[in-house]
Amino acid sequence: MRMFFCAGNEENMKKAIYPGSFDPITFGHLDIITRASKLADELVIGVLNNSAKSSLFSVDERVTMIEEMTKDIPNVKVASFDGLLVDYMREIGATINVRGLRAVTDFEYELQIDQANHVQYPEMETIFLTSAVKYSYLSSTVVKEFASYGGDISKFVPKQIIDKIYEKYNINKE
Ligand code: PNS
Repeated sequence: MRMFFCAGNEENMKKAIYPGSFDPITFGHLDIITRASKLADELVIGVLNNSAKSSLFSVDERVTMIEEMTKDIPNVKVASFDGLLVDYMREIGATINVRGLRAVTDFEYELQIDQANHVQYPEMETIFLTSAVKYSYLSSTVVKEFASYGGDISKFVPKQIIDKIYEKYNINKE
């Protein structure tokens, strides 16, 4: 009798990464994560630990927030990385890179980066997911700009992290 063991076969697993700064995570990111999680066996959210760039949240804070936001998606894992994306992808055995596209301007930048990454790591493929129309304007920068003036960010980020963002700007909305 011939038997097939498919479950848990690491070699055949399609591992994808969705890298980014996520400073902070937005509804736009979460939409991409939900959709990308259906395209791979495992999706790693790779939070860039970039000491050269000042960020609102520490990398640990970002990882914790994303873990909380994605806890109901079983094949999503959150991790931080530093250095080159292609090196990290090789290290964890990811061959799919997921990027979200909001506008043509995003595409021009992403195309160049993807082609450069592909030269470095030819086994990888980048999948571009176009953002949902309702989030096409949304970025972490937009969130920070509105939050820094005490503006309403409830349409931009999940309610669990709204106060954490205001706190960074010493804004009390009670
Ligand atoms: O959320 P972002 O800022 O658009 O994410 C950009 C990110 C993290 C994907 C990109 O900067 C990256 O991959 N950085 C790691 C360093 C690297 O590999 N650089 C070469 C390609 S930009």
